[in-house]
Amino acid sequence: MNILITGGAGFIGSHVVRRFVTRYKEYHIFNLDALTYAGNLENLKDVEKAPNYTFLKGNILDENFIKSIFAKYNFDGVIHLAAESHVDRSITDPLAFVKTNVIGTVNLLNVSLDTWKGNLEHKRFYHISTDEVYGALGAEGFFTEVTPYDPNSPYSASKASSDHFIRAYGETYQFPYVITNCSNNYGPNHFPEKLIPLFINNIINNKPLPVYGDGNYTRDWLFVEDHAIAIDLVFHKGKNHETYNIGGFNEWKNIDLVKLLCRLMDKKLNRKEGSSEKLITYVKDRPGHDLRYAIDATKINKELGWEPSVTFEEGLDKTIDWYLNNKEWLNNVTSGEYQKYYESQYN
Ligand code: NAD
Ligand code: DAU
Repeated sequence: MNILITGGAGFIGSHVVRRFVTRYKEYHIFNLDALTYAGNLENLKDVEKAPNYTFLKGNILDENFIKSIFAKYNFDGVIHLAAESHVDRSITDPLAFVKTNVIGTVNLLNVSLDTWKGNLEHKRFYHISTDEVYGALGAEGFFTEVTPYDPNSPYSASKASSDHFIRAYGETYQFPYVITNCSNNYGPNHFPEKLIPLFINNIINNKPLPVYGDGNYTRDWLFVEDHAIAIDLVFHKGKNHETYNIGGFNEWKNIDLVKLLCRLMDKKLNRKEGSSEKLITYVKDRPGHDLRYAIDATKINKELGWEPSVTFEEGLDKTIDWYLNNKEWLNNVTSGEYQKYYESQYN
């Protein structure tokens, strides 16, 4: 099989590329990525020379480029992760999210449909989506696959829109798709604009930890390698025209998670107990901040046998160690443009 993975130089994409390249030597994996601020080929140093791996630098908005690679490589399947992914950036620049997440996805759909027509039953387009499309939960309940869409941020609205286009292509053109909606990932290679890597980096550098609002917002956290395992399973065994929710069964209030991180980091850095907690600073809330996300992952568990393989304690431990052992990666991604972003977001 020739498989196109989009966004493979990003956080989750790089773990998916690595898993497919190392596990399926008989496949050829093509990684298409525009290398935006979030894309980083250093994430894939260990597999870049593998004979079954090819990197294609390009933008999913570039229709001619997409047509040319589909014509050249005759892809059997697409795993689509390329996206603008940070909620705070979507609040300051919504159009960038419409362009990549909506128009870029429709571009890929059109070229796939056009290239694959007459042979659709042997193809698969797998769209990676998010639990944020379902909106916000109160203190109780879970998102299931039939929860109505109710997105609140420009990011989640753009992801919801792309999900709708994919379903619509399934209904209208019998397009062979599968979608998964996953909760918050964490782990190695996570860009330090998101809560966990941002706070790890700030603790290392003794910088304030900017907790939005009162910190009583809840997220369900999943180790990124467990998401990659789920993606592998759904790509191979998921049913066409189905959606599967993926989650960690692991809800944390932000402030509790931040305090846990502080305690673990104090130990790892041999600092006095309580020193990192002193860095916690409550700052202006995120506009439209969703109170709580929680995934009911029963369907993927019952139908495909998937469940998280690491506990949160194990996952966080591995994650912190990775950042402490990869200071060069962290320094490279936090120089230049990152400083400007940080200034405008937090100062
Ligand atoms: P990321 O921001 O780390 O990586 C996105 C990648 O896409 C980058 O490598 C970037 O260069 C590339 N990209 C962006 N725009 C592009 C374009 N126009 N053309 C080609 N490439 C482009 O994102 P992530 O956190 O790894 O998320 C990957 C996917 O998973 C996204 O679709 C996101 O919505 C979804 N998702 C993320 C999470 C999470 O917690 N991070 C949870 C559920 C779903
Ligand atoms: O739920 C899945 C989604 O999880 C993915 O679709 C997104 O791509 C991913 O970015 C993530 O979205 P969140 O907005 O939940 O993640 P983030 O790490 O930005 O924020 C997690 C929580 O922490 C949220 O309640 C906001 C809060 N927060 C975040 C930052 C960056 C802070 O309190 N301070 C911060 O500086």
